[in-house]
Amino acid sequence: MAIKTVLRMGEPCLLLKAAPVEQFDTPELHILIQDLEDTMLHMNGAGIAAPQIDVSLRVIIFGQKPILNQGEKESKNPRYPNADIVPYTVLINPVLKPIGTETELDWEGCLSVPGMRGIVPRYVRLHYTGFDQFGNVVDRLVSGFHARVVQHEFDHLDGILYPMRINDLKDFGYTDVFFPNQDVQDD
Ligand code: NI
Repeated sequence: MAIKTVLRMGEPCLLLKAAPVEQFDTPELHILIQDLEDTMLHMNGAGIAAPQIDVSLRVIIFGQKPILNQGEKESKNPRYPNADIVPYTVLINPVLKPIGTETELDWEGCLSVPGMRGIVPRYVRLHYTGFDQFGNVVDRLVSGFHARVVQHEFDHLDGILYPMRINDLKDFGYTDVFFPNQDVQDD
């Protein structure tokens, strides 16, 4: 439908607690999902949350649809070329439950914090539930990068941006400074 402007850190909408979706399979919800998808694809994001396009609802999308070039076994996100493939997922009114207490540190970026990266602790294993845009239940046990992406996007629904999760702000800086010799895409 439309590529939307992604709000950047400092915009009040990014700090709100978003409201739950009350009705599924409505034209408005389908337009929102399409806008999120168009915007995420345009920006090569690993995921995006509705508040990032100024819609304060508990809707996130993440992962990749399998768009394969000839000879390719799987498509990779150019922003996270070494990451595991996460299936394209629409997740509405999500509930997250960490499995165990183990956390791990890894780099994150965010479309709302362009040109920067930081090292963020996240739970390694996660049980998440929610609904797709038609009201079908989504229920998954995941780990690693998939679990990290969901935790990052879920945080957007509670007004939390990843820099707020960084333990040591020395681990926060410009992408091209941290990764000068790599072709890491600038957001
Ligand atoms: Ni983000």
